[in-house]
Amino acid sequence: MTEGSRSDSAWTERQAAQAGGFDAIGARYDEAFPHKEGQLACIDRLLAALPPGARVLDAGAGTGLPTARRLVDAGCAVTCVDFSPTMLELARANVPGATFILGDLLELPDHPGQYEAVAAFFSLLMLPRKQIDAALRLFHRLLTPGGRLALAMVEADVDDMPIPFLGNWLRVTGYSREACRGVLEQAGFEVEWEDVLTYVPEQAAMPEVQLFALCRRVG
Ligand SMILES: C[S@@+](CC[C@H](N)C(=O)[O-])C[C@H]1O[C@@H](n2cnc3c(N)ncnc32)[C@H](O)[C@@H]1O
Repeated sequence: MTEGSRSDSAWTERQAAQAGGFDAIGARYDEAFPHKEGQLACIDRLLAALPPGARVLDAGAGTGLPTARRLVDAGCAVTCVDFSPTMLELARANVPGATFILGDLLELPDHPGQYEAVAAFFSLLMLPRKQIDAALRLFHRLLTPGGRLALAMVEADVDDMPIPFLGNWLRVTGYSREACRGVLEQAGFEVEWEDVLTYVPEQAAMPEVQLFALCRRVG
């Protein structure tokens, strides 16, 4: 078993710690990040690229706000996956029109061509780099040819670094904007549009630089 593989016990412990962190954070997440104009702009670009009624996976959906709600309101068939039971319950209440899967996004059934789009806003940054590569390759397979990936990350050159986050310790990963583009291209995505925004969370001392990308599956 390789370190960080999906079935080793260290990985399971890590998943439990990360999911438990989000269980403890719950609704405070949306209080800390109340202004999501950059995210909404990316969602609207995604919607403009999709056919009516598109099937969309919201990977690491959190409370379902604003992503799943915006997509459902626009007529998409949205599946939310999250491994935090508390976050998924909030999403169920916020977006009753979506479908919900409680579990790790890396362990989704590998059904090729199941979705016209995948949205992963600030969720892959909770994985080590090796697992981000695995997640992007899974998304590539889950998408229809030419399907879209909407991604948001925080710019930082760190891999699985513990940080204090809203009263909990969570492990986070980031890239420079150039490296982030490279990781997407390596996984078989063409970056069609990017945006970089400085965001000041309500309850954090430091502003963060947010990276948004809209990508198309190639190959
Ligand atoms: C920073 S929050 C972002 C939530 C939402 N996408 C948003 O934009 O507001 C990250 C979410 O991803 C979930 N998450 C992190 N790693 C995950 C994994 N491996 N599988 C499923 N959910 C995960 C967390 O539980 C949390 O709800």
